[in-house]
Amino acid sequence: MLNMNNISRIYRTDTIQTHALRDFSLAVAQGEFVAVTGPSGSGKSTFLNVAGLLDNFDQGEYQLDGVSVKGLKDDELSRLRNEKIGFIFQNYNLIPDYSIFDNVDMPLRYRGFNGAERKRRVEQALEKVGLASRLDYLPSQLSGGQQQRVAIARALAGEPKILLADEPTGNLDSLMARQVMELLHKLNEEGTTIIMVTHDPDQAREVKRNVQVIDGQISDFSIYAPLQPQTSADEKQELSHA
Ligand SMILES: Nc1ncnc2c1ncn2[C@@H]1O[C@H](COP(=O)(O)OP(=O)(O)O)[C@@H](O)[C@H]1O
Ligand SMILES: [Mg+2]
Repeated sequence: MLNMNNISRIYRTDTIQTHALRDFSLAVAQGEFVAVTGPSGSGKSTFLNVAGLLDNFDQGEYQLDGVSVKGLKDDELSRLRNEKIGFIFQNYNLIPDYSIFDNVDMPLRYRGFNGAERKRRVEQALEKVGLASRLDYLPSQLSGGQQQRVAIARALAGEPKILLADEPTGNLDSLMARQVMELLHKLNEEGTTIIMVTHDPDQAREVKRNVQVIDGQISDFSIYAPLQPQTSADEKQELSHA
């Protein structure tokens, strides 16, 4: 489903180069649920953004669902992204003055589906996350957990092959986080491949596979391995200069 080989992503400014990913390799098969943990600044979001075709990379090979991504033009990348990928972010990224229906509908408009098809998909997706009765609400009229479920519905309405979630419960209290996790488990059981960045070791333990990102590199380890607290690259540098 997703195959990355020796990916490098370097951010350059006038004064500093940051190797956000270095020789990063990961293969994720269809149907997996992968939790990605690691210290702040280790490259987790960069990995998800590259995986989701929101960011490019400097070196390496990346195949998404059998398509080699290297050398694709911007419009080809957006088409591939819209067709295959659903994103869930920590802060929901809903449009505040759009109704729940319109928020979920928006990416479908971009893809040019007709009105009937869009309506079917929006209602089905909101049904799946348990919010079919809230079509006309505004995001501000919902709780954080409900808003994140709307964001999940928006991702699902595109019928993606793979869901990429960056700390999806990071802004939620534990009860709402639980609801979102249950929903992700249900979607995975129905066949959606999921890669989720999380800071929560308990969440990482409850999914099928764990990988850790440290200093822009992956270390893959088996489920139920104890998670060690780690120092970020920046902190390490500060320590070694102290
Ligand atoms: N757009 C950017 N420009 C410059 N540096 C960046 C950019 N995005 C991320 N970085 C740097 O790349 C490293 C990895 O960042 P990130 O992937 O956001 O880490 P994480 O999500 O694990 O906290 C950090 O050192 C960060 O400062
Ligand atoms: Mg991050």
